[in-house]
Amino acid sequence: MSQDDSIKVTSDGSEIYHPSDEVVSRATIKDYDSLYKRSIEDREGFWAEEAEKLSWYEKWDKVLDDSEKPFYKWFTGGKINIIQNAIDRHQDGAIADKTAIIWEGEPGDKRRFTYRQVNEEVSKFANILKDKGVKKGDIVTIYMPQVPELAFAMLACAKIGAAHSVVYGGFSAEALSQRINDAKCRVLITADGGWRRGKIIDLKAISNDAMSRSPSVEVCITIKRTEHEVSMQEGRDYWYHELHTEASAECETEVTDAEDMLFILYTSGTTGRPKALLHTHGGYSLYTSVTHKYVFDIKDNDIWWCAADPGWITGHSYIVYSPLINGTTVIMYEGAPNFPNPGRWWQMIAEYKVTILYTSPTAIRGLMRFGDKWPEKHDISSLRLLGSVGEPINPEAWKWYHRVIGNETCPIMDTWWQTETGGFMITPLPITPLKPGSATKPFFGIEIAVVDDNGNEVAVGEEGKLVLKAPWPGMARTIYGDDERFREVYWKDYEKQGWYKTGDSARIDSDGYVWIIGRIDDVIKVSGYRLGTAEIESALVSHDAVSEAAAIGLPHELKGNAIHTFVILREGLEGSDKLAEELGQHVRSEIGPIARPESIEFVDSLPKTRSGKIMRRVLKARALGEDEGDLSTLEE
Ligand code: PRX
Repeated sequence: MSQDDSIKVTSDGSEIYHPSDEVVSRATIKDYDSLYKRSIEDREGFWAEEAEKLSWYEKWDKVLDDSEKPFYKWFTGGKINIIQNAIDRHQDGAIADKTAIIWEGEPGDKRRFTYRQVNEEVSKFANILKDKGVKKGDIVTIYMPQVPELAFAMLACAKIGAAHSVVYGGFSAEALSQRINDAKCRVLITADGGWRRGKIIDLKAISNDAMSRSPSVEVCITIKRTEHEVSMQEGRDYWYHELHTEASAECETEVTDAEDMLFILYTSGTTGRPKALLHTHGGYSLYTSVTHKYVFDIKDNDIWWCAADPGWITGHSYIVYSPLINGTTVIMYEGAPNFPNPGRWWQMIAEYKVTILYTSPTAIRGLMRFGDKWPEKHDISSLRLLGSVGEPINPEAWKWYHRVIGNETCPIMDTWWQTETGGFMITPLPITPLKPGSATKPFFGIEIAVVDDNGNEVAVGEEGKLVLKAPWPGMARTIYGDDERFREVYWKDYEKQGWYKTGDSARIDSDGYVWIIGRIDDVIKVSGYRLGTAEIESALVSHDAVSEAAAIGLPHELKGNAIHTFVILREGLEGSDKLAEELGQHVRSEIGPIARPESIEFVDSLPKTRSGKIMRRVLKARALGEDEGDLSTLEE
């Protein structure tokens, strides 16, 4: 049966794509409903059973400790290190010689590492860090292009019980410095640069600039990638390759507690200050590996490509950690999808016989724009499953992805989750009948609801706030250094019920399928990147010419959403194209190119509440020509 024969239209008009017999017969999990039921009825039993499949130094005393809600703890008393599971246990037997990482640089250079070689590289890096004084509990900032050493640096930190804070390579010096200062990092790992669309991004110059504002950095280790000249400061800066030749390839993995900090990762929220979500060794190892294994039905011979950046949670969870825990072969690619032409990804899929591709709707829409001829040039029939993450996928892009990339035979796993959740929360399995644009149903152990402000479930098909009703092992434990903000942002609205507020709105249809509508707080997803309106506004206001600013997200064909801004200038100043250009550049240098607004409009006033809060909702409705809703709190 071809997939086409199995498209059905339901009573509400949505199409359902049923998996082919072949997909079903290959699937490990053939019955979602009964396993889901079991996972909810005995949540702790379900997670304990899955946790048994990992390797522990010492077993836990308690699966879930909820005595200090919302600061849940999982597998307390257990001793585990994610490296023991991702690397150490793969050093015996045939898997040691299995390829762990296939890497391709944008210029076309290639490197491969077996699990044994990954162990050697990570051990060397770990010894280098130890030699530079990094200890258990320290936080190391990593600001790098997507080269294998980025993964090795993360893994090396974990191996010695230090935590990493990876800052996406697209962030500016100011943003990097802010994140270094927040975590008071002593050590920064960077590179001389990385390749992007044929150009070098000068990460070392940006790092130097950041370090000039971050006095806590005493050691900066630089990986040589692009070979262009960079400035090194004696006594602080070290070349990685020089340290590497001296380093031993043997290093004991630190025995960490299940609840020990594995990493922090900054993401945008509703204030101007980014927040660092904290994840731990035990629960995160378990949650990421189980979701990866079941959702993508991972087999020994899979070639897995998560085409994200390790600088985001998707890369942490599904490029670096979970595939290695599951002993999978991972593809890593440094550069742009359309370099030197829009066939780059398809060429790589053909060359490496990639079996699973996991990417974002923005990337799909971007490649779709170049037409079918690019994928058609390459034999991409090795693909058996596809995935999507980061923003709602529009049915048009879904169908193109399914038809042209998936040859109508690859189911698409549209996974909904967040930096805070660690791993997939609402997602299909390969056996799930799919509706284009719906993330389908909750993963095992996950209970969700769509509710109103009082916590009452809204009617079938109606939009409401998406909440998570019970804890899960992969959940962020707190916001680093700010427990109160963690409680306030995620748990306060539904404190009585003990639910986690996702910040997204959604609806659930009569088949129980979840349709994510988007963020309802002051967070904008631009090309899948998460940005806060307040961050953009405070970047604008930090410019001398600006008195007040407001930022909103408006739908954009390619990016999902784009940032539009409204600016009130200081007394006596007049708006001009030149000033708008300057302000755009300013936001870029304060945050990074991803935050540069699509438009900057000079205005005389902004709609505000009587207490002075900008009513972004009104700006948005006006821009879209929609009803402005309740204006009773509007000041003028
Ligand atoms: O709005 C949702 C959207 O991305 C947000 C989380 O962003 P971030 O923490 O950067 O993590 C992105 C990668 C997991 C969510 O609150 N989002 C994520 N996945 C989807 C999605 N929206 C719709 N469909 C998805 N599959």
